[in-house]
Amino acid sequence: MIETASAAWDAYAACSPERRPTNGSGARTWFNWTQYPDHGPGVELLGLRPGDRALDLGCGSGGNAAHLASLGVGTVGVDVSTRQLAKARERWPDHPGVELHLVDALTHLRASPGTYAAVYSVFGAVYFSDPAILLPAIRSALVPGGRLVFSQRPAVEGCYGAQASLIQRGPDEDPAVVRRWDHEPGTWIGLLRAAGFVRTRAEILPAPPDSGRTEGTLHVRALRPGPPRCEDPEGIDLR
Ligand SMILES: C[S@@+](CC[C@H](N)C(=O)[O-])C[C@H]1O[C@@H](n2cnc3c(N)ncnc32)[C@H](O)[C@@H]1O
Repeated sequence: MIETASAAWDAYAACSPERRPTNGSGARTWFNWTQYPDHGPGVELLGLRPGDRALDLGCGSGGNAAHLASLGVGTVGVDVSTRQLAKARERWPDHPGVELHLVDALTHLRASPGTYAAVYSVFGAVYFSDPAILLPAIRSALVPGGRLVFSQRPAVEGCYGAQASLIQRGPDEDPAVVRRWDHEPGTWIGLLRAAGFVRTRAEILPAPPDSGRTEGTLHVRALRPGPPRCEDPEGIDLR
């Protein structure tokens, strides 16, 4: 049975591993797009400057949001799980520049037109929301030229669209079930363009070569049309 999202994600929070206190370089805050530690691109893909505003959809315990805030970006993290946000508040007490809200991603986006220079989601609400509804709402919440970036597991071949995701609980309990949306990179590009995004890019980042793993990370980027906000670190033409 599919429960309310908040009950299922509270169950996840109870079982999910704690984030490391420092990363491989000894930093207390860092940004990670993938399921592997110290791997993949970093915060530069958001193209943000100090003073910008960013939104984390499904922020969990808030590590990525805290890192952005440490760079001077005013960051709002939204999540439907009371337990996840409790972890975030415990981990980042009074962290300047981070605002946390217990709210569904779509509700927050619809209340925030033209607000954010970047909206991002790391295995977060974008993974677990119907893209036909969520992507247009993200576009509206971005400023012109603002950027959407998200990551999640790649689709399993042949398993596309809404899929059941099981969240394991104790040995004597049924798993919690939530819906997630899986698509090939090309399908994501089509969905983004249909929602009014431009400069769309979707790719599978490979697993770390020394990990013994083959599962990569789906990584997706797009812009709301508008004047370029900054130089893109990777030289993407932002017009
Ligand atoms: C797998 S966790 C990832 C958390 C975090 N982004 C990270 O990288 O550690 C997914 C998070 O998305 C949140 N979430 C799922 N659906 C959501 C929605 N519709 N609105 C807001 N948060 C949501 C869950 O509560 C959970 O904290």
